Amino acid sequence: MKVDVLLGLQWGDEGKGKVVDVLTPRYDVVARFQGGPNAGHTLEFEGQKYVLRSIPSGIFQGNKVNIIGNGVVLDPALFKAEAEAFEATGHPLKDRLHISKKAHLILPTHRILDAAYEAAKGASKVGTTGKGIGPTYTDKVSRNGLRVGDILHNFEEKYAAAKARHEKILKSLNYTYDISEAEKLWMEGIDYLRQFHLVDSEHEINNLLKEGKSVLCEGAQGTMLDVDFGSYPFVTSSNTICAGACTGLGLAPNKIGEVYGIMKAYCTRVGAGPFPTELFDETGKKIRDLGHEYGAVTGRERRCGWVDLVALRYAIMINGVTQLILMKSDVLDNFETIKACVAYKVDGEEIDYFPFDIAEGVEPVYVELPGWKTDMTKMTSEDEFPEEFNAYISFLEEQLGAPIKIVSVGPDREQTIERYIDEEH
Ligand code: GDP
Ligand code: IMO
Ligand code: MG
Repeated sequence: MKVDVLLGLQWGDEGKGKVVDVLTPRYDVVARFQGGPNAGHTLEFEGQKYVLRSIPSGIFQGNKVNIIGNGVVLDPALFKAEAEAFEATGHPLKDRLHISKKAHLILPTHRILDAAYEAAKGASKVGTTGKGIGPTYTDKVSRNGLRVGDILHNFEEKYAAAKARHEKILKSLNYTYDISEAEKLWMEGIDYLRQFHLVDSEHEINNLLKEGKSVLCEGAQGTMLDVDFGSYPFVTSSNTICAGACTGLGLAPNKIGEVYGIMKAYCTRVGAGPFPTELFDETGKKIRDLGHEYGAVTGRERRCGWVDLVALRYAIMINGVTQLILMKSDVLDNFETIKACVAYKVDGEEIDYFPFDIAEGVEPVYVELPGWKTDMTKMTSEDEFPEEFNAYISFLEEQLGAPIKIVSVGPDREQTIERYIDEEH
């Protein structure tokens, strides 16, 4: 019995897809537990790049069971497009992918509602991915949602009722739209979905555990986008934290073993909302250019800044992180010095914890470390790490109170270096 959870500690896009792909050979099952096509998880191997949105990132590695759990929201039209593109790569999908009947469906009108609510917010808009995530989770919690299992019986009726309800809301917002084309694609997606294993994934996953199988749960977004603990209201609408794996898959908390917390060596954010260490200068631009920091789904420019250890300590606490994974350190290969935010200054007072309100007047307090000025992208073992880089990761471990067990030095599957390999993880 073994369930490990891998999740983002920052504002998403930490590199979860890459590392799930790397770790999958050690597991029997990979499962997504929250989020939906707002995610864009990139994998690179054998010179090819793939972006997954709803399909778990374990799908490329041999014959593993990949589960889309009950906590996920699924858009059948986007799913069909993603699945067909995936199958076109020659990798089998239908036998490997199981979808929870309890996962909620994103309707075409959910997307319209997402746009309408954003428009209504004006300057204070969240900057969502526009995929209908918020309205779909809203319907789930207000007990109005449609689930994947609903497509098996009297679906037309249920769909018509949900759509009529949405139309009323949109009318009250005076929002004009046309969903005829989107609805057609969506209905094709519903038919396509029927070809998949639609399962009671909570039973399946617990039965597999009883048989001694191991599970890797793949988080989407990041802790700072969690609906409870993130930079609310500039967050997504699900629990992105470790506890989300329990509710999003039907796993008891005492089944969780390792919690892999994944972080970039710097920090990025897409969309609006507070970001204390954001850089508006040439250094921020340099990080964006070298790190190719543009959204995998939306192509939007990602905001860039220095690593924020205050927010990371908070994320590590909330998730019970047992080991850290450090991504994209190669992006900093050519910096004279590197900064890390160790505390915040609020109203002239220094604090080392993540406060209720980070929107106003939070000033980062930095420590400056020497850069390593070495190309690390071809390194294969920690023995090759330059002294300054070793000092940087020791500093991070000490500040964060958790070991960095994997260092990623490039986007490719092979550009992954394990540390502490003599010890059992
Ligand atoms: P996810 O949403 O957490 O899976 O991350 P994304 O795929 O949205 O964004 C991570 C981006 O960084 C992708 O383009 C990856 O190919 C790339 N990437 C992942 N790890 C590394 C790394 O160590 N170095 C560099 N330079 N790029 C990386
Ligand atoms: P992955 O899994 C980065 C952000 C959006 C917006 C906010 C709310 O690839 O790390 P939503 O559409 O969820 O209602 O948008 O959350 N966001 C992400 N940012 N990575 C993601 O996913 C994100 N998913 C949502 O930009 O600020
Ligand atoms: Mg992403």
